[in-house]
Order: sequence, then structure tokens, then C-alpha cells
Amino acid sequence: MSAFLRPLGVEHPLVQAPMSGSNTPALVAAVSGAGGLGSLGAGYLEPQALLEQAAQIRAAIDRPFALNLFVLPDDFEVDEAQVDAARRRLDALMESEGLAVRTERPARWAPRFSDQLAALREARPAVASFAFGLLSTAQVRELQARNVRVVGTATSVAEARAWAERGADAICVQGAEAGGHRGTFLHAPEEALVGLFALLPLTVAAVDIPVFAAGGIMDGRGMVAAEVLGADASQLGTAFLACPESAAAEAWKRDLPQAADHRIGTIYSFSGRAARGLRNRYVAAMQPFAGELPPYPVLNALTAPLRRAAAAAGRGDLISEWCGQAAALVRPMPAAELVRMLMREYAAARCTPA
Ligand SMILES: Cc1cc2nc3c(=O)[nH]c(=O)nc-3n(C[C@H](O)[C@H](O)[C@H](O)COP(=O)(O)O)c2cc1C
Repeated sequence: MSAFLRPLGVEHPLVQAPMSGSNTPALVAAVSGAGGLGSLGAGYLEPQALLEQAAQIRAAIDRPFALNLFVLPDDFEVDEAQVDAARRRLDALMESEGLAVRTERPARWAPRFSDQLAALREARPAVASFAFGLLSTAQVRELQARNVRVVGTATSVAEARAWAERGADAICVQGAEAGGHRGTFLHAPEEALVGLFALLPLTVAAVDIPVFAAGGIMDGRGMVAAEVLGADASQLGTAFLACPESAAAEAWKRDLPQAADHRIGTIYSFSGRAARGLRNRYVAAMQPFAGELPPYPVLNALTAPLRRAAAAAGRGDLISEWCGQAAALVRPMPAAELVRMLMREYAAARCTPA
């Protein structure tokens, strides 16, 4: 039983991880409806879309859910020469792969964080979680005053302490195993690749608020293992990627069960920020230019139309197939069914009645 989630009315110690770009209101509603905490990663959504998707979740279920944002500056400095060089490289790659799509310069590189945060405040989810940075104490308090609990993502003990000092209600520790972008904000990404078995008990000892465990947890056994190490709840992302409610491309869903652990690595070349996923043909092709590519969110915006076109063409080898290290343990099934299966396994591993 989760000390954090239970008082909110969430039955199970299970959080479906926010997965920007791959989650849908239907996925969140299915998980929350089945007694877990569904989370909508809204990092790529403009404020209006965030509000609409939150309304869709509310229309589907009368249960708590989470909204999640990337904490970023509102504006970014851009090296125009670097952008032009990256566009030439990316366009040449698409041409050599026989895809007609070319890069475009978007009107904005990313939605403005302060506008997204205002929309999140208006949406008033039961839980708001954040990655890539820290809110100010005032921002944390503003959310709490609206009865929104705040969860900060940490990839090191220092980051967990920083969130606790800002007044967060809980921490989500993201072990090195975790799929998707690293939440790291105080360190160079390669310095904060701490495995969950080390990071979780270290963090539990360092802060006096509940800690969620994320990274490589794919079944009920993993949830119990995390609980034994002090986790208040487990946050699973990759496990939900192959659900019919997930928006991951079909080729990506097909590749997950065959995703060999040694082929899953830290990748910069899709987004300009460290993220865990499958090292595929695109990653190999861009490897020689790693040092020349623009940082997040510029590269992320430049590659977005290319990834969409490659996904539509069924080219899993050219899209960002984010996944955690244990991806091959994925079980494609409807999300509510997966929640029920996870909780049966959890009960069996704990030797308690389901
Ligand atoms: C496709 C994908 C997208 C993700 N997007 C987000 C996000 O928007 N916000 C966030 O805080 N974490 C995001 N994550 C990371 C998860 O919160 C979590 O740390 C991770 O899924 C746990 O590891 P696992 O995938 O092995 O379960 C994402 C993960 C994946 C796989």
C-alpha cells in the first residue's frame, strides 16, 4: 500500500509513467480506471492541447491522474550555423533512405514552459510530476495550494534532496535502466547513470518524503523488489508502451519484445538530450556527427517530422524507439488488463491475497 497514493484514492502502488509523445488520454484513463495512477506526459503539448487532453481523461474516468511537464526555460539560444548544418545532415540521411520528408524550421522550438505550467495549474490534476529541472518553492506551493501534489524526478541523491528542499511531496527516482529521456538536471548525464538498486535505497535514506522507483520494472516481482528497497510505489513506462492505448508506432511496438538488452543505450542524436532507447540504423548513421548536433529541444524539433514520416513508412530503424533496459519483458495487452496482471504478480511475489 502506498502512503502517498492511497490517501489520494489510488488503490495500487503503481504509477504508469508519463511518456510524452507516446501516451494518450485513453492510456491514462485505462490505468487510473484500473486502480493505478495514470500519468499524461504533456511535455510536448501546447497549453490548449494539455487542457483538452486533461478534459478527455476526466470525461472518461472520475479517478485521480497525473500530469507531467519538462521544466525548461521559456526561450532558447540557437546557433543558426549549427542548425543549418544539422538540417543538411538529416535531409541527406532521409534522402539516402528513400524518404521524401525534409526538416523544417518550426515556429517555436518547444512550448513555453511557463504557459504549460499555467495550464497545468488550471487543469488541477491530483498529481503533477516534473523532469529535467526544479520548480521554485513558490511554484511548488502554488500547486499545493490548489490541492495538486508535486512529484520531482531525480537521477541522483543530490537531485532528490534539491526537490525535497523545494517542498515536493514525493520523489520519483529514475534509475539508469529507465527508458526515455534522462531527467538529470544537476549533473552531466553520464555522471548520473546510477542503477535503481543503488539509487533507491540511497534516496530513501536521504529524504523523508515518499520515493517512487522507476527504471526497468516490468512485472509484479520488480514492484515487490522496489518495495523491499523502500519504494512507496513503482513507476513503469516501457511495460505500457505496447498496449493498444499507447501511441508508440507499430514498428516500435513490434521491436520491443526482441529488444536485446545490449542494444539499448543512451542516445543523443534524436533529441539533443540523453535518452535511453534502441540503437538502430539512424543512431549508427548519426554517430559520426554526434558532436555537431544542436542541443535539446532544437534537435528534437528538427527530427520530429522525420520521425513521424519514418513511423508512417513503417521504418522502425529510423525512429526514436525509447525503451528501458528490460524492454524484452514487455507484454502487449490492454492497459487495464496489464494493471490487473501486474497486481496479481505483485500479490503472489509478496505472498499476499490478490
Ligand atoms: C517513451 C517514453 C517517454 C517518456 N517520457 C517521459 C516524460 O514525458 N516525462 C517523464 O517524467 N518521464 C518520461 N519517461 C521516463 C519515465 O518516467 C520512467 O522514468 C521510465 O519509463 C522508467 O523506466 P522503464 O521505461 O524501464 O519502465 C519516458 C519513458 C519512455 C519509455
